[in-house]
Amino acid sequence: MNQLNKDHAMIVRTQQPLNMGTPLHLLAAQRLTPTPLFFVRNHAPIPIIDPNTYRLTVDGLVDTALSLSLNDLRTRFESHRRVEATLQCAGNRRTELIARAPIPDELPWDTDAIGTATWEGVRLRDVLEAAGIKDSAGHIAFVGLDQVVKQDKAFGFGGSIPLDKALSDEVLLVHTMNGEPLPMEHGYPLRVLVPGYIGARSVKWLSRITIQAEPSDNYYQAHAYKLFPPSVDERSVDWSGGVMLDHLNVNAVIFTPMHDETLRAGKTRISGYALTGHGRQLTQVCVSADGGARWHTITLEPRPAQEVWSWLFWETDLDLPTGSHEIVAYAVDSAGDQQPSEVDAIWNFKGYMNNVWHRVPVQCT
Ligand code: MTE
Repeated sequence: MNQLNKDHAMIVRTQQPLNMGTPLHLLAAQRLTPTPLFFVRNHAPIPIIDPNTYRLTVDGLVDTALSLSLNDLRTRFESHRRVEATLQCAGNRRTELIARAPIPDELPWDTDAIGTATWEGVRLRDVLEAAGIKDSAGHIAFVGLDQVVKQDKAFGFGGSIPLDKALSDEVLLVHTMNGEPLPMEHGYPLRVLVPGYIGARSVKWLSRITIQAEPSDNYYQAHAYKLFPPSVDERSVDWSGGVMLDHLNVNAVIFTPMHDETLRAGKTRISGYALTGHGRQLTQVCVSADGGARWHTITLEPRPAQEVWSWLFWETDLDLPTGSHEIVAYAVDSAGDQQPSEVDAIWNFKGYMNNVWHRVPVQCT
């Protein structure tokens, strides 16, 4: 263990700011990712925050602006709402996009920028209602206490979510992760948790919530974490366009067999995870052992409403003869959304939201 209580098996993407991912075989080991193995995505150094002087500001289109201590949050609100949710960075699986064309200046995440935890805290809605939401409100903006420096200017990482999402039951101001106080690298003492949205909206080291008419103009909402078509690149991009990323898309990844594994021919366990956004159900995972020529369908039972924010694990057995095979998997959700077969249609120069069919080459002897 190191100073941050992170497991030595973590894949360190950058030391400063700290960015680390979870090896796939360790994600596969349990449905809830232990905190020492939970990925970390930071855009600036981790701020050290004194819990005694910490205050959360709530302002903007409110009847009464609030300044809340941690004790206020504990005593004035129901403070142990609990949700189990998968957090996934928009850049997860970027390496498969990079294999088609380079994506400079972005972290080369493989399948390691994802994890599932239990999160406890105060419902965001309760805090917003305590401040009083004015009729003209449309978006809830968040700012963290970390300091990103861009073009000689320092500012806190931020972003926003639409008001209707902010008012839903599952969105929390989190102080507890996997039953323990939120560790500093995950946003101590308080972070937002927006289940079903890209990880970037779950702002850590939360300092300020602003109720406003428009989305946040923070760099990470108005500029980064936007989706552009494959034809746009760094030179041609018009930053005023693009789609601000919000809901996660449907995705499935194969845990076993591992990439380039050599196996004994015969009955083989194929397993993985699947997840989707919008609070939808997952209905199917389709698995092929021959690159997509023939498919085996796993039908998934609907889950209770409170469980749809986290990934599910799936498995099946397929017969693999001697030789080379490509195992392929994709998921389908209750809106009929499924994953694209090729990266060409979804490649984007920032490398976000890759949900192409997951392909794993193996050799059977
Ligand atoms: N919040 C702040 N204040 N600063 C950040 O750099 N990174 C975001 C989000 N919240 C970030 C942040 C991104 S891009 C992701 S994917 C998640 O935090 C990662 O959360 P984790 O480090 O707890 O896994």
